[in-house]
Amino acid sequence: MARPVAAIILAAGQSTRMKSAKSKVLHEIGGRSLLDHVLATCAAAKIDRVVVVRSPEAADVQAAAERAGAAAAVQDPPLGTGHAVLAAKDALEGFDGDVVILYGDTPLIEPATIEAMLEQRSAGTDIVMLGFRPEDPGPYGRMIMAGDKLARIVEAHEASEEERKINLVNSGVVVADAKTLFELLSNVTNNNAKGEFYLTDIVALANKAGKTCGVIECPEDEVIGVNSKSELAMAEAALQRRLRAQALDAGVTMIAPETVFLSFDTELSPDCIIGPNVVFAPGVSVGEGAEVRAFSHLEGATVAAGAQVGPFARLRPGAILDRGARVGNFVEVKKAHIEEGAKVNHLSYIGDARVGANANVGAGVITCNYDGFDKYLTDIGEGAFIGSNTSLIAPVVVEAGAYVGSGSVITKKVEEDALALTRAEHKQLSGWAAKFRARKQKEKSKD
Ligand code: UD1
Ligand code: CA
Repeated sequence: MARPVAAIILAAGQSTRMKSAKSKVLHEIGGRSLLDHVLATCAAAKIDRVVVVRSPEAADVQAAAERAGAAAAVQDPPLGTGHAVLAAKDALEGFDGDVVILYGDTPLIEPATIEAMLEQRSAGTDIVMLGFRPEDPGPYGRMIMAGDKLARIVEAHEASEEERKINLVNSGVVVADAKTLFELLSNVTNNNAKGEFYLTDIVALANKAGKTCGVIECPEDEVIGVNSKSELAMAEAALQRRLRAQALDAGVTMIAPETVFLSFDTELSPDCIIGPNVVFAPGVSVGEGAEVRAFSHLEGATVAAGAQVGPFARLRPGAILDRGARVGNFVEVKKAHIEEGAKVNHLSYIGDARVGANANVGAGVITCNYDGFDKYLTDIGEGAFIGSNTSLIAPVVVEAGAYVGSGSVITKKVEEDALALTRAEHKQLSGWAAKFRARKQKEKSKD
């Protein structure tokens, strides 16, 4: 049996550059917080237990960790990455297995990368570090190799000019046996330029103790760290590239994928067609062959096979479109079930409603679902026809096959196959307009 694996997610550093009241790791990309991305990656990599290391102020981080079934530990004050890992030691009391050290502000690492590190660890390397080769190695710790083994890591500001030229740099991600890791960390000192306990010092200490250290490399995109709003936007862009590529690979048609925004959980079936400038907030699934046309915004919505949405439609949480249903331009649908083949094509608000199969809802129809205190249901039966510019004052039922005349204000049940209309009578005074104009023109000519 494979050894158990724990993760320690560091999230206790200062994040002043975000200029935000909210903890850095709770900012979102692809509709999910940075921390939740890392926690989901831990789950995908089948990591058995997780400890999130937070600062004393970050009660919001503690709550987020607990929601995901992870433990949290406090580092107070933050004395460096090595010190932060030690803060998780008590939470892992009695744990015997491998530990993966991850970062709450580094959300795009792939489960496969962690698995490759764990594999190298299982094959006998004591400490496996994750490195990458950025165009500009800048402020990153440099990885000093001795053959195919990692000899030590030197922080950029402490590196010699020669060492600074090395372009293999440290992502910070580590895999090591728990006991070995904590033993090595207990020997790390803060005798350096920053006066911090560097996690990276475990490499030289391990080598001195006759242990082996190795490196796995990953693409730079996976280890984008977020320290500012501009880096948050860069991480969002990288995630969107990844999500779009996955959708295209799965057989989704997008004529301008670079303009489509996806969420971490967007489910797009093969052969669905997504137009330009469509935004998928969390909780959306789109069935085979369905079409979402340009400039639509969807959230918490289910679009069945062959349905059609937009252009310029808004589907809000609880919108369910059955097969072949159509929701057209400038239509907002919230918590409403549009059944098979039903059409709401133009300029409508449909909220807290059912629109029965093959019903036709005309232009400008509004379900008046809210009285300022409570929400009420509108139930439109199969095959009903609601004339344009009708207000349906909920709670109200229009039974199957009924017709509602345009411009009506419907407050009572409309019976099956009946016609209901609430129009004021059409009055007409023949010749009135011509006489009116003649009188007015005469008055004006006297002035
Ligand atoms: C660290 C590495 C460096 C690597 C770089 C990658 C060390 C000494 N250096 O540098 O080799 O190239 O990451 O980004 O490890 N944190 C805490 N508590 C602390 C300090 C940090 O939780 O006391 C967390 C931070 O929230 C952050 C992460 O650890 O998520 C990295 O800390 P940071 O100070 O950014 O490390 P670097 O100096 O960038
Ligand atoms: Ca950093």
